[in-house]
Amino acid sequence: MPEITLTTLQSLKLKGEKIAMLTCYDATFAQAACQAGVEILLVGDSLGMVLQGHDSTLPVTNAEMAYHVASVKRGNEGALILADLPFMACATLEQTFANSAQLMQAGAHMVKVEGAAWLAESIRLLAERGVPVCAHMGLTPQTVNVLGGYKVQGRNEAQARQMRADAIALEQAGAAMILLECVPSELAAEITQAVKVPVIGIGAGSAVDGQVLVLHDMLGLSLTGRVPKFVKNFMVGQPDIQSALSAYVTAVKEVSFPGTEHGFNA
Ligand code: KIV
Repeated sequence: MPEITLTTLQSLKLKGEKIAMLTCYDATFAQAACQAGVEILLVGDSLGMVLQGHDSTLPVTNAEMAYHVASVKRGNEGALILADLPFMACATLEQTFANSAQLMQAGAHMVKVEGAAWLAESIRLLAERGVPVCAHMGLTPQTVNVLGGYKVQGRNEAQARQMRADAIALEQAGAAMILLECVPSELAAEITQAVKVPVIGIGAGSAVDGQVLVLHDMLGLSLTGRVPKFVKNFMVGQPDIQSALSAYVTAVKEVSFPGTEHGFNA
């Protein structure tokens, strides 16, 4: 696979070709995902739940993130590696810089921060210092205790207006990508039209620039047995994991995933 850069992703958005992203935590899956054509490997702090067995992402440390980024880097064959800054890693600007540096030096090409307009200053300073940033908006699992659970965000008009304004503010601050989690499909489509940077969705409908799923979810593996509505099990009908990964990429590119049944209304 040719090396995927921010320029590649930007041109995919302009061409209207959907971007395939998957979470990835180790070298073997990094190689398999690349061979299936996945363009972005997200080393997500979801690893706290699917690898470590916690009931939230809050216990994950930056050092653990760096360990998995380095593992993914060893198996990567040209994808862009996006790494999550975990819970409280951005509590101060000094911590934001130090934790981002640790992830970039471990092999990340870009970091992801969860939040909204309050992150504008951090995003601007990181971008100025050579760290591309993806802003994760909508359902932000690190603030599950404030949100009162894993709930769809932006369902009423005031929240939707705020999210549109925040997305534009974060793009203006220098965010190079936006990720929308559990947002009504129509609102996600509006945000995608309103910004120039690629918008990746999970539970955000099909009118965004690309899709992401948690690797274990799309392989039909679940510790708790609770499967979110936006998940599709790509192992169904496939002989092996490599074929399931390829089926995911094909479905994203052909826009046969997500279907309306995987999305949310306002
Ligand atoms: O941590 C993660 O895997 C994520 C995805 C759910 C988008 O942020």
